[in-house]
Amino acid sequence: MDWGMENRLLSLFKEDGRCFFMPIDHGYFLGPTRCLERPAETIKPLMPYADALFVTRGVLRAAIEPSFNKPIILRISGGTSVVGDNLANEIITTTIEEAIRLNAAAVGVSVFVGSEYEKETLRNLTQTVNECERYGIPVMAVTAVGKELAKRDSRYLSLACRIAAELGAKVVKTYWCDEGFDKVVAGCPVPVVMAGGPKCETEREVFEFVYDGLQKGSVGLNLGRNVWQHPRPVAIMKALHAVVHGGAAPAKAEEIFNSEK
Ligand code: 5RP
Repeated sequence: MDWGMENRLLSLFKEDGRCFFMPIDHGYFLGPTRCLERPAETIKPLMPYADALFVTRGVLRAAIEPSFNKPIILRISGGTSVVGDNLANEIITTTIEEAIRLNAAAVGVSVFVGSEYEKETLRNLTQTVNECERYGIPVMAVTAVGKELAKRDSRYLSLACRIAAELGAKVVKTYWCDEGFDKVVAGCPVPVVMAGGPKCETEREVFEFVYDGLQKGSVGLNLGRNVWQHPRPVAIMKALHAVVHGGAAPAKAEEIFNSEK
């Protein structure tokens, strides 16, 4: 692997091979998402426990200081909204030149496998990979389902993750599922990172699925709403950090959460 590509990838993962990315890109289709109205304030107490920030160029430029010292994963697909016709109808919003200018460690592109815009979003991914390979920038594919949250079973996720890896993604971000997640990971030849999805009912639920997903081979998290929409985001973040990087089981994570809240 080229030096630049390897260096950027290594910056995203800790020595244990695991990662905890903090996504705050939700506004690109959801607008001022609850608790993300002022992104800089939201993430300030959380970033000491995160390994990278997943963000659009607009929020990066407007809300994050250039002295920010964690790697940036730049979301470069979008162009749709939650009130529009179809969330899958994405375009590439940001050039690779811009990603380089912003010193991004990686870029993120959504693919909507099985949607009306499957081919267009897979083209977004492949064209991004083609350009990024030239400059040694890793691409993280996001297997998105739009409003069709029920799609997230292991058969669908295996298909979507494998296609994203086949097309050149260096990391695939997907959803955890309660049955067959081991098969999703095993079928994907590049590291699989878990998103959280809408906020869970209890923190214990979050610790359980994160722990289970890691046991089944995921390398870490790109988990937002279950952290920053929680009334005790720092306590959740510390507990999840212990699960991802310290191997803490759910009971231990809950203990950490209770002692921090
Ligand atoms: C939004 C995204 C988010 O980065 C991703 O869904 C993770 O955030 P959350 O844990 O809140 O689901 O790609 O399009």
